[in-house]
Amino acid sequence: MKKSHQYLLQLKDWGKEMERIVTDFELQAEKENVQKLLEDINKSIEHGLYQEENIKKLQEQGKSLLMRLGFSAAIPYGEHKLPPLPYAYDALEPYISEEIMRLHHDIHHQSYVDGLNEAEKHLYKMKMDKSELKHWLREQAFHGSGHYLHSIFWKNMSPHSSKMPVKAIKKQIESDFGSWEDFKHQFTETALSVEGVGWAVLFWHPMSNRLGIQSLEKHQLFDIAGLIPLLVLDMWEHAYYLQYKTNKKTYVNNWWNVVNWEDVNDRFIRAKGK
Ligand SMILES: [Fe+2]
Repeated sequence: MKKSHQYLLQLKDWGKEMERIVTDFELQAEKENVQKLLEDINKSIEHGLYQEENIKKLQEQGKSLLMRLGFSAAIPYGEHKLPPLPYAYDALEPYISEEIMRLHHDIHHQSYVDGLNEAEKHLYKMKMDKSELKHWLREQAFHGSGHYLHSIFWKNMSPHSSKMPVKAIKKQIESDFGSWEDFKHQFTETALSVEGVGWAVLFWHPMSNRLGIQSLEKHQLFDIAGLIPLLVLDMWEHAYYLQYKTNKKTYVNNWWNVVNWEDVNDRFIRAKGK
């Protein structure tokens, strides 16, 4: 019991250090998560909750916090998992329907995760015939880009959007694009220019030290080396067709109402720090 008590005290110190870091970098969403973790640790210390099950739960909270902050342990080859939606399926209505979110997340994103795992198993864990190499590389690029972009896309949206950029990303957008309106116009036009399948992406490029906008048509051709996506918009038909049919313009205009600028800002701060 004494050992568990000491461990909880160490965990508390670690939590306080994390709180200091996320406060320094203005990572508002993560700050709330760290504070929740600290609250749970304090409660455990106060009530002497030393059961293995409780400690394991706190460790899991800490682990997922680290993963979101980018200090995560490596994901073993072939073991990617579908991340849960950070809100309910109907939370983005009326802008994005529950039906679309269910199919998009549970079916489409899951198939990218499965495809990436399959490709990685062949590429890194199994003895593979040389003639198969190109096939599995293509599969890794296609499903990998699909998985990573969708993982960002869900978090880039929120039912509690500020509807406008905030904090550091706001200043950076104004400095690089002239104004929020100019940026919004160019991003919208980029999204509408996507032919068939693809994405619009606001990215940070560490080598030029500035933001940029790019369309990624056929997302496996993720072809600006080194860019770090901050805000992505899915322009594949499965993202809007059930609700908007061919009216891509209304889809994009409505999507601006659910952009999670806190998340975009968090990504920007982390990207700039790298
Ligand atoms: Fe998609």
